[in-house]
Amino acid sequence: MHNAERWTKVVDRMKLRMEGRGNMGSLMKNMMDTVEAPSEEETHALLAYLRRHSQKPIETRRYPDLATAGWTFREACSQCHALPEPASRQPGQWRSIVERMERNMAWMNRVVGSKRDAREPQFEIEGIVAYLERNARRN
Ligand code: HEC
Repeated sequence: MHNAERWTKVVDRMKLRMEGRGNMGSLMKNMMDTVEAPSEEETHALLAYLRRHSQKPIETRRYPDLATAGWTFREACSQCHALPEPASRQPGQWRSIVERMERNMAWMNRVVGSKRDAREPQFEIEGIVAYLERNARRN
């Protein structure tokens, strides 16, 4: 989900939480029961794995039409993680990813308990898929 840089911060924060030193304090430590926070070595391995498989963020200078034709893509797809690089996938790979993201969004709305807000960027699947396919990797 996240790009490499972001994973470093997320892992740091979660490790502190697991150690009972986050914003939930020792409550989190109690919830962990007998599960232990990862050691330095384990954290290192986890982070290396996450960074290796991290999101490739968009190289915006390659997309001069991001604020026009790519606007819905930009607004809808940067809400939970870095805006992904369209050329990181082949044309046929984007549709199923975008459909899964729509489910991720529905799930998140359920968790947060909010109704669809008309002021938020709408998830216009066809327009987003078309933009991504047009800019996808060609080889
Ligand atoms: C509601 C939050 C949310 C939104 C909005 C969102 N994503 Fe994601 N994205 C996630 C989560 C969670 C993951 C990791 C789990 C997964 O892959 O389903 C992820 C992972 C990804 C991945 C890596 C996984 C893979 O299969 O390659 C890509 C690429 C991606 N998102 C693209 C997009 C695009 C394109 C959009 C806009 C159409 C988008 N995301 C909008 C939450 C979101």
